[in-house]
Amino acid sequence: MRAAAFYTSGGPEVLQVVEVDTPEAGPGEVRVRVQVAGVQPYDSAVRSGWTPPGQNLHVPQIVGNDFAGVVDQVGAGITSVHTGDEVIGWAMLASCAEYVVVPAAHLVAKPAGMPWPQAGTLSASAQTAHTALEDLKVGAGDTLLVHAAAGGVGTIAVQLAQVAGATVIGTASPANQEYVRSLGATPTTYGDGLTGRILALAPRGIDVALDAAGGEALDISLDLVANRERIGALVDLDRAEELGVLPVRSRRSAERLQAIVDTYRAGKLTLTVSEIYPLEQIGEAHHRVDTGHSRGKIAVRVQAAPTAGR
Ligand SMILES: NC(=O)c1ccc[n+]([C@@H]2O[C@H](COP(=O)([O-])OP(=O)(O)OC[C@H]3O[C@@H](n4cnc5c(N)ncnc54)[C@H](OP(=O)(O)O)[C@@H]3O)[C@@H](O)[C@H]2O)c1
Repeated sequence: MRAAAFYTSGGPEVLQVVEVDTPEAGPGEVRVRVQVAGVQPYDSAVRSGWTPPGQNLHVPQIVGNDFAGVVDQVGAGITSVHTGDEVIGWAMLASCAEYVVVPAAHLVAKPAGMPWPQAGTLSASAQTAHTALEDLKVGAGDTLLVHAAAGGVGTIAVQLAQVAGATVIGTASPANQEYVRSLGATPTTYGDGLTGRILALAPRGIDVALDAAGGEALDISLDLVANRERIGALVDLDRAEELGVLPVRSRRSAERLQAIVDTYRAGKLTLTVSEIYPLEQIGEAHHRVDTGHSRGKIAVRVQAAPTAGR
């Protein structure tokens, strides 16, 4: 099969489309013919030379954490999905490929009306946002500050928080102010004077903050939120631990992903895919994420032909 992978770490240019053996589904596993995969900062970090704790990297190392596609092969003991089912799922450093093999527990059904790009980029960032709001106990009556509201995680966090009954203020560049407003949050720009702008928007104060940006965002959150257990950090996790704020590490599960899909089906979640690249342009897709200024999600269209005989 064809897959987006790298042999040596470096910039987006190290990525190439390689031919590797098509994986086979073992007992309890499912093979999916991938239609669309997503790109995350995590992929960029690994490609740049970072080895995630507990991960063994291989050469060529495939990239990609989330995907949507069509079930192509079902391993022994699986009754929950069948060949031909349209599914959404996740896999660590494996999904940007024509086929991916995952445990059945890493899949949920794709709603018929959900477009492939939205489905293929849903399960990583959205589960991070969902985890963060759960850890921060965001609920009715809260005023939540989301740093980096226009990004992959921020876009979902802003919306799920409102579903939970919170009021949301989100930071973004001038170019993304209207976008953040369209998600139902009150936007403001980051940079000099941010604390004052936020206090002007929320005279009664900020109850809870989620830092998806890093840098000054954590310091500003400390100025604004008295209870450090209600400040969540997705970036600079070591510093977060030193400061006694909550380091947020995504926890993925089919139940969590299903809850997000259900929110989408209820019409309460807009999924933004700002750019879609063909597999051959995987380097350009990573470059876009590396800028740190992509809006919503960046998708990679894979679309292999069905395997013979299916
Ligand atoms: N701990 C975990 O489990 C976990 C999981 C997922 C992600 N993460 C981390 O969380 C961060 C966000 O991930 P993501 O997927 O949402 O990234 P992303 O999709 O690449 O989003 C980046 C966003 O950041 C905004 N931004 C850039 N500089 C900013 C600043 N100084 N203040 C506020 N916003 C700023 C950009 O908006 P503008 O263009 O408007 O500037 C852009 O929309 C990344 O660092 C990622 O590694 C951690």
